[in-house]
Amino acid sequence: MPAGRPPALGARALGAVPAGGQGELRAWRARPADYVRDCNVAAMEIREVAVVGLGTMGAGIAEVFARAGIGVVAMEADAEALRRGVGILDASLSRAVSRGRLAAHEQAAIRSRVRPAEAFSEAAAVDLAIEVVPERLEIKRQVFAELDRVCSPTAILATNTSSLSVTAIAAATKHPGRVIGMHFFNPAPVMRLVEVVSTVLTADGVAAAVPDLARRLGKSPVQVSDRAGFVANALLLPYLNHAVHLLETGYASREDIDLAATAGIGLPMGPLALLDLIGLDTALSIMEVLDGEFGGPRYTAAPLLRRLAEAGRTGRKSGRGIYDYADRSTDKPHSNGNIAASAAPDTVTLIGSGDDAEADLASALASAGINVTRNPAHPTDLVLIAAAAGRPVLPAAHATGRPDQAVGLHLAGGGLAEVVQTSLSSEQAVASGLALAARLGHTSVRVPDRPGFLVGALLYPHLADAVRMVQDNYASPADIDTAMTLGCGYPEGPFQLLDAVGAGAVLAGLESMRTAYGYSSFAPPPLLAEHAITGIPFGASSEPAGAGSASAGSAAASSAS
Ligand code: CAA
Repeated sequence: MPAGRPPALGARALGAVPAGGQGELRAWRARPADYVRDCNVAAMEIREVAVVGLGTMGAGIAEVFARAGIGVVAMEADAEALRRGVGILDASLSRAVSRGRLAAHEQAAIRSRVRPAEAFSEAAAVDLAIEVVPERLEIKRQVFAELDRVCSPTAILATNTSSLSVTAIAAATKHPGRVIGMHFFNPAPVMRLVEVVSTVLTADGVAAAVPDLARRLGKSPVQVSDRAGFVANALLLPYLNHAVHLLETGYASREDIDLAATAGIGLPMGPLALLDLIGLDTALSIMEVLDGEFGGPRYTAAPLLRRLAEAGRTGRKSGRGIYDYADRSTDKPHSNGNIAASAAPDTVTLIGSGDDAEADLASALASAGINVTRNPAHPTDLVLIAAAAGRPVLPAAHATGRPDQAVGLHLAGGGLAEVVQTSLSSEQAVASGLALAARLGHTSVRVPDRPGFLVGALLYPHLADAVRMVQDNYASPADIDTAMTLGCGYPEGPFQLLDAVGAGAVLAGLESMRTAYGYSSFAPPPLLAEHAITGIPFGASSEPAGAGSASAGSAAASSAS
């Protein structure tokens, strides 16, 4: 290294304190420890920031600041990482230009605000530095030690940690009062939520400036407590991890799992595609932190998640995760559902319980011009059991005497049909059921004859986690709904969904899952049972359940029937 040139970020991040740095360190120690009381940078005064770490999130965050007219020192460990990181930013801006969302001169102006840098000393004059390095406490602490050393006494030091304790990061610095969590969501230029994590050590001026800054960036700040995963990740990651568990146990295919979430619940992405976007390595790190803090089966990382991360199949960023992105056409990995490999049946034996599920199917079959009999003794192409949540298909299929020719069909809402395969269904019957669903105009997923089928198996435990958060007085239903709509693009928050589905239906779904599997993670929270008994919705309204938010969660609502 040439004399006088500061060491690169990588060397320092790995713990090497530069020779010349010790003197500076001593000088810092000589300052009053509580100088941060004077750290009153108003959000509008923040003119230049440093973004340390230019992976997917860091590059996105750099773009957000630069778009807001703020100068960015974009920092990476070495020239190659810097080139890659700036490449992510450039690709995002070019995409916006090609879509007509950004003029070429604006792109040039945004880009001119970004100054790539490899050395911490380049951050000496910034008003705020945000760390976006991998989710490992020791790396983050080293970065903060460097920022603490080089940045001006009035600079705010933020971490984009998605799960680690901001207090622990802050406590390792010399001036914890200026340390704060500022957690963005992927893709950072798109998702509106910023979780702001003030610790007991954060100076008032810093705690006030950062939400204002988030608003200046066009984001919606939400104050959250310094608990593992804050609000959004603590709720999202166990749901994503459970989807991996369903995949690795052969419960359903990856495409069907994702389709159940998008078509059946109405979410913008399926959980497996979302894991590929977040990065399987990042997801694994978050699960490990959640497991360390909360423990229990809901927080144990699925072995497949761990194996894929260990194998370097980290998702979109590496070109391969749960899906393969080598071929750009797979950038949106959702399939169109199961392509029927068989002709739709002309004649169907319909078996039901005289409920809505049966009536709905009967009218759909009639509209499609399919001949229906109710007598199992009549020969038909397919025996169709009108499936409903909480009612296994197998007993009815077995009672017909033709269980191999039988499948269940559950109209899950959102145009999604769950074709339920029992342990006795033949492949031909399943193919015929899928073809029938297509003929009825439904996208279909193939699901086992297990409680909740597929939509419920994903949704009910997720909603129960949200209820537990409220039960533990950690966040309000409104806060949780805001976090999930603004941070994860949910069209409706978990509590809006829950009120639409009905606490009773979710409770029954969870109880049947717990009875079937015996897992404590499916145990319904007492607060859910209270809402089920009283019929009081979780929303602010005091109307009885079912009376409010008529349009909310329509897809998932019908999945509970
Ligand atoms: N970078 C920048 N912009 C992007 C982008 C990216 N990577 N991906 C999409 N966009 C923009 C597009 O340019 C487009 O904007 P315009 O309408 O202005 O052109 C807009 O987003 C919509 O994009 P598309 O039409 O291509 O795709 P879409 O409609 O399928 O939306 C999505 C894509 C916004 C990612 C949407 O699928 C979504 O909201 N998914 C959920 C994402 C989510 O849950 N994020 C949180 C993950 S958890 C996390 O990040 C926290 C953590 O710590 C792990």
